[in-house]
Amino acid sequence: MPMIKKCLFPAAGYGTRFLPATKAMPKEMLPILNKPLIQYGVEEAMEAGMTNIGMVTGRGKRALEDHFDVSYELEHQISGTSKEKYLADIRKIIGECTFSYTRQTEMKGLGHAILTGETLIGREPFGVILADDLCVGDGLSVLAQMARIYAKYRCSVVAIEEVPQDEVHKYGVIAGSELEDGVYVVSNMVEKPAPEEAPSNLAIIGRYILTPDIFDVIRATPPGRNGEIQITDALQTQAVKNMVLAYRFKGKRFDCGSVEGFVEAINHFYQHWKEVEG
Ligand code: G1P
Repeated sequence: MPMIKKCLFPAAGYGTRFLPATKAMPKEMLPILNKPLIQYGVEEAMEAGMTNIGMVTGRGKRALEDHFDVSYELEHQISGTSKEKYLADIRKIIGECTFSYTRQTEMKGLGHAILTGETLIGREPFGVILADDLCVGDGLSVLAQMARIYAKYRCSVVAIEEVPQDEVHKYGVIAGSELEDGVYVVSNMVEKPAPEEAPSNLAIIGRYILTPDIFDVIRATPPGRNGEIQITDALQTQAVKNMVLAYRFKGKRFDCGSVEGFVEAINHFYQHWKEVEG
């Protein structure tokens, strides 16, 4: 049995950087080739053994629920045709995972979104995937790599990567001391610091493993950067009280919340697609 079974997907955000594409469609449904971002995320969670999927959604996000459900009309239409192969992956996901949803009614930050998911998680450790960070793991999926670190140290783990100094203001940034190759004990973390306030250029990307005490910590966390309840601030409290690890993952991340990252991801997957199908 995998130790962590649940993975939470905060997916209530508006995706304003992709307007007007995201006006009536969730940003998580934007496709990289023929697969929506959210499906890449769910496949990553599955690879880490997390098949109990929780999503924090909001208004206008129903396409997410429909995507992870059977479409009888479509099944009927393509049954027995050569097009069935296009549904093979999503059928497998629907067969192997369970999906639960709750809605965040107000946008009060990532910490608040994760707290909204408490009802889906309960009192067990869980993974968190921000689907607009699309990760391609080196061998093992990034969340699966993190689950290994969790299994060893049993504390919250955040994924990090080095970013240029002029980009630190877009991320949560950590300071820490290296415990083993690529694993840091966090001594400080700051949400979206100005370059001169940044404790390093090690930026948190959208992958977390959180211990369930995080919910009480978030409840006690006042609004931080941009007046929002930040998961980075709650993790900083956990780091002081207990221990939080930052893990420099092996693989590549595409910031699909930005047009540049989105296009880069498409190019990456298209190269791969050409090698396999072309
Ligand atoms: C969130 C977090 C930030 C993290 C980032 C990773 O920010 O608050 O700490 O570095 O995700 O993608 P957002 O991108 O939602 O503004």
